[in-house]
Amino acid sequence: MSPQLSQLASRLDRIAPFHVMELAKMAAELERQGRHLIHMGIGEPDFTAPQPVIDAAARAMADGKLQYTSALGLPELREAIAAHYRDVYGVTVAPSRIVVTAGASAALLLACAALVEKDADVLMPDPSYPCNRHFVAAFEGKAKLVPSGPEHRFQLSNAMVNEHWGEATRGVLLASPSNPTGTSIEAEELRRIVETVRGRRGFTIVDEIYHGLRYDGPPFSASSLGDDVIVINSFSKYFNMTGWRLGWLVVPEALVPAIEKLAQNLFICASSIAQHAALACFGPEASAIYEARREEFRRRRDYIVPALQALGFKVPVLPDGAFYVYADCSALADDADQLTRAMLNDAGVVIVPGLDFGSHAARQYVRVSYATSMENLQEAVARLGEFLAKRKHHP
Ligand SMILES: Cc1ncc(COP(=O)(O)O)c(C=O)c1O
Repeated sequence: MSPQLSQLASRLDRIAPFHVMELAKMAAELERQGRHLIHMGIGEPDFTAPQPVIDAAARAMADGKLQYTSALGLPELREAIAAHYRDVYGVTVAPSRIVVTAGASAALLLACAALVEKDADVLMPDPSYPCNRHFVAAFEGKAKLVPSGPEHRFQLSNAMVNEHWGEATRGVLLASPSNPTGTSIEAEELRRIVETVRGRRGFTIVDEIYHGLRYDGPPFSASSLGDDVIVINSFSKYFNMTGWRLGWLVVPEALVPAIEKLAQNLFICASSIAQHAALACFGPEASAIYEARREEFRRRRDYIVPALQALGFKVPVLPDGAFYVYADCSALADDADQLTRAMLNDAGVVIVPGLDFGSHAARQYVRVSYATSMENLQEAVARLGEFLAKRKHHP
């Protein structure tokens, strides 16, 4: 080991790289050789920020609104986000409880920095978004991954929280709708979880980054379950602003000074141009565009789920949100990792195996992203049909 590497902090041992990067490298090499690939491994919308948002960013630049903002965010953006809670969910959230961050990533980091003690456990479902366990590990806590299958919509249930809560457990970290499964926790179950955690004097963090991209049921936010619930959201997914690095946290009033102190030190503030641009996200013009795009995502989901089933994948829970299908490939192959590599090499379709999202049944599942055009989805299904038919005859 080189002298520099021997100085790496031991917490790095608990932070794993993404397996999917291996697949991404293989894909990049095939594309370099001239192969045409269809990307269904991606975790970002194929849409980019709509024109009213771009125009607002251009105006901010022309007007020189380029300085640092307050660490908690532009007051008018915090107010616009509060109004969003009132308009969409009918929930009153004081703007003072909203902290604007550099994406949901910074929101997760700030929440974990404020709440995760060394050696504390945080409960989360397996499968879940891989960075969550690494945020906890970065503060020397331990992610306690609780295996969850289709019978629980791949989420934690109240019974699971009770069963797995231990001496060292300090809280739960949930995402609804979830990455990689696209499934949400039912409102009543979430209410029970929040009450249980409250009774144990723990914290509940709910990552609602895929909110807005929900296709079934009325909008419901964990922010309606009490001021003590910490809610995370972002402009990355529904608002199509991944690279702008903007998100937010809703925190209890009492936590604001701690988060503010951390945000000042760790980030100074979120991008000021992005904040000025995001003000346009809530206007009528942008809202109409976002709603049309949500409908397009729904159309794709309604196409891809039955198409995957016809190919021999099982989709044990209909995803109700995000742009992912967590599909069981055990009828097609013994190992999702090998299957996805073969799909890439032989069919030119990029789909990621369950491995990055946990270890529970991870080799049995693939995550299919439908954040690509309908034409691409149709072409991918045709290619996979041919690929699977060949495999059946020459396994
Ligand atoms: C569940 C979940 N949370 C958080 C993030 C981070 O998003 P961002 O930092 O772009 O807001 C992602 C990104 O894919 C995600 O899937």
